[in-house]
Amino acid sequence: MRFPQTFIDDLRRQADIVRVVQDYVPSLKKKGANWSACCPFHGEKTPSFSVNPAKEIFYCFGCKKGGSIFNFVMEIERLSFPEAVKVVAGKAGVSLPRMEGEQDARFQQKQKETDEVIKLNEWALEFWEEELFAKSAEAKAAREYVAGRGIMDETRAAFRLGLAPDSWDALTNHLKKRGASEAEIERSGLVVRKEKGGFYDRFRGRVIFPVLDVRGRPVAFGARTMQPGGEPKYLNSPETPAYTKGRHLYGLFQAREEIRRKKFVILVEGYLDALVPFQFGVKNAVASLGTSLTSEQVKLLGRFARKVVVNYDGDKAGIGAARRAIEMLVAEDFETKVLVLPDNADPDEFIKKHGVDEYGKRRGAAIPHIQFVLEQAMRDRNLTQAEDKKAAIKEVLPTLYAVRDPILLHEYFNHATDVLRADAKLRTELWEDIRVQRAAAKNPIAKQLQRETSFVEPTAPDLTVAEQQLLEMLAHDEDLRREILPQIEAKDYENLPTASVFTALKQMETESAPFDFARLRELTAGDFWISENFVPQLMMSEPQREEGEATDDLRAQAVKCLTAMRLIMVDKHLQTLAAEIAAAERAGENERLNKLVMERLEWTRRRNNLLLRTDATQYSLSHKSN
Ligand code: UTP
Ligand code: MN
Repeated sequence: MRFPQTFIDDLRRQADIVRVVQDYVPSLKKKGANWSACCPFHGEKTPSFSVNPAKEIFYCFGCKKGGSIFNFVMEIERLSFPEAVKVVAGKAGVSLPRMEGEQDARFQQKQKETDEVIKLNEWALEFWEEELFAKSAEAKAAREYVAGRGIMDETRAAFRLGLAPDSWDALTNHLKKRGASEAEIERSGLVVRKEKGGFYDRFRGRVIFPVLDVRGRPVAFGARTMQPGGEPKYLNSPETPAYTKGRHLYGLFQAREEIRRKKFVILVEGYLDALVPFQFGVKNAVASLGTSLTSEQVKLLGRFARKVVVNYDGDKAGIGAARRAIEMLVAEDFETKVLVLPDNADPDEFIKKHGVDEYGKRRGAAIPHIQFVLEQAMRDRNLTQAEDKKAAIKEVLPTLYAVRDPILLHEYFNHATDVLRADAKLRTELWEDIRVQRAAAKNPIAKQLQRETSFVEPTAPDLTVAEQQLLEMLAHDEDLRREILPQIEAKDYENLPTASVFTALKQMETESAPFDFARLRELTAGDFWISENFVPQLMMSEPQREEGEATDDLRAQAVKCLTAMRLIMVDKHLQTLAAEIAAAERAGENERLNKLVMERLEWTRRRNNLLLRTDATQYSLSHKSN
């Protein structure tokens, strides 16, 4: 799916980035030309997140996330680019153009098949919901089973439980009666194909638990046997055009509002483990359904909350699954806690036995994921044994590899190596290991990670007011760039800390590419502090003139800055010369001395010329600190 670039550009201009961000960050407040708030992407108490409507960008000086309105929506809703474009278009009230490319037809075909399966699923579900209230002995037994599991009427209705009668063709006949064709029924996955042709109902004599998508449409079903020890315990839908395993979460439709309100989600394994807490007022649980948590499910969750309590079963399989879930979650920057209930109880069993208040207490005492991973790693091991220690460390490492935020990673690493009592040598080794692993991760952001793992962020270099002001003016003013950039030569900036920015500006000018935050960051990417701190600061700074205002003053000021930069450079060179002259004098090297003195004369002349041209001295004296 691709949108025409002109559409993207128009949409970016039309959608008000401040309004869109405010939808997600209501505390966004105007501060000069920027709007600022506490960052929605990382926890913080003082705002380092800003939005600049004139430049149509956002940036967080804390976590360094930044970019266009689309980047913002992608990040906060965990969407792909085309999905984010759709969301922004929706918010801006702009209608979507037809998609580019031949994929169009295929996409529409797929959409049609999906809708068709969902339609049949809906018919089937309505049928099963009714069947649960039939007069048959079977229906009575099913109602008893549901009641026996402590499920009350209201919950049953909210989760739309049903009964698939014990029949080979009851559902098929019902679907046909409602107008479904044989081909449609076959594609729906609601039936199983027979080898000799034809098909029969897939779910027979089972209680139905529908899996609803975020919009509440039934995409798949879990069907539980009512017989104690019956196999399989749950029979699940196969993949269909409407259902891909690992893309949905059971209970999300019912829980989503509460998850948003509470700002965290409880992640459980089974159908009943989401449904039973819901019934007792814990309405923010969703189930990953026995398979391991996928990154798609994690992204889906990210649309509703950034904090998770993983509450899997306490058995060996559950603990392993929890660890894999943790890795997926921390990789997406979730704040992750873990709750393991006593006696291997799942939430359903625990609540039945000890009540929901006790469950709430335990949930409140859930431990940070790193503590959980460390505790598991130390269980049944003796850290004074080298072998055991190694094994424990090996177990913890995958969790660390996954942590994306470099500051958090450093924190976890320190914590983990403290707890595991790693000595300095081992620490260094482990650190290197993590660095390599992260760099090698087959991940579109691998490059960025590699850069981030140089944890000690380079400190701010000493910038002169002149270069800073000049760059600010250039960043905000296209006319000025066109006039001034050609006057700036490589030797004017090549020794400055901001050299990469000047180079980038010049390059963008020759590309005649639109002046763009992302491009500027990309071009300066090799220069960590510059691209992560200075460039965003530059882009967030206030323009010095309104659109259309006269540029004469600005032009003069820009030239003054440039002159000042040159002056500073000449002064530096004169200082070096002075030192060399002194050395030559001491050594009695007369020939060299003569040459150096001549050179000093030449440079002094240059200095005087520069001074004549401007009163730029004011710039060379004061240094602005960041
Ligand atoms: P569990 O075996 O822990 O079952 O499987 P449970 O959720 O406690 O089931 P109840 O309480 O006895 O009804 C956890 C989850 O794994 C999936 C289901 O999603 C189940 O809820 N599962 C399990 C299956 O899909 N098929 C199975 O045969 C077993
Ligand atoms: Mn259970």
